[in-house]
Amino acid sequence: MKGVGKFGEVMAGEKGKVSYDEVAARLDKIIHSGSQRKAITDFVCRELRKIPHYTWVGIYNVDGSELVLASWSGPSSTQHTRIPLGQGICGAAVTEKATVIVPDVTEDPRYLQCFINTRAEIVVPIMRDGAPIAEVDIDSDQLNPFGPTDKEFVEWVAHELATIL
Ligand code: SME
Repeated sequence: MKGVGKFGEVMAGEKGKVSYDEVAARLDKIIHSGSQRKAITDFVCRELRKIPHYTWVGIYNVDGSELVLASWSGPSSTQHTRIPLGQGICGAAVTEKATVIVPDVTEDPRYLQCFINTRAEIVVPIMRDGAPIAEVDIDSDQLNPFGPTDKEFVEWVAHELATIL
């Protein structure tokens, strides 16, 4: 798996210029800071939103047969604070124990709408000992914005979070 300083690519957007590596370096520091879990997951959501095409970022915990929203950062709150494991893109990632990328949410019948502007979504499960314990959910206002770097980058974040959640 890649790590800090390996993601490269620099992007410029409405939020200014930012690189995956800058964000990864700050995430690495806070995730391994020894701070309380809620403080860490709040920071992770805020920090990930610095990437221009990450419009809304949330972290859900797996709690029995449901996903429960633990932290989020974005323009507005979601009504989906609890999602049954059998529902949504969020449920699919946990059930499949794999990253799910939906390039166009209008084309995926599993999609549960939260925000009118969302065009695409990536959900990455956070796995410990082969079982999903939480997940990172990112909505984008852009169509088909998530490429291989995003997949590797968010999977790296999930891998790091698994060590402290
Ligand atoms: N769209 C998600 C629901 C969660 S919101 O995006 C915050 C889904 O289909 O599971």
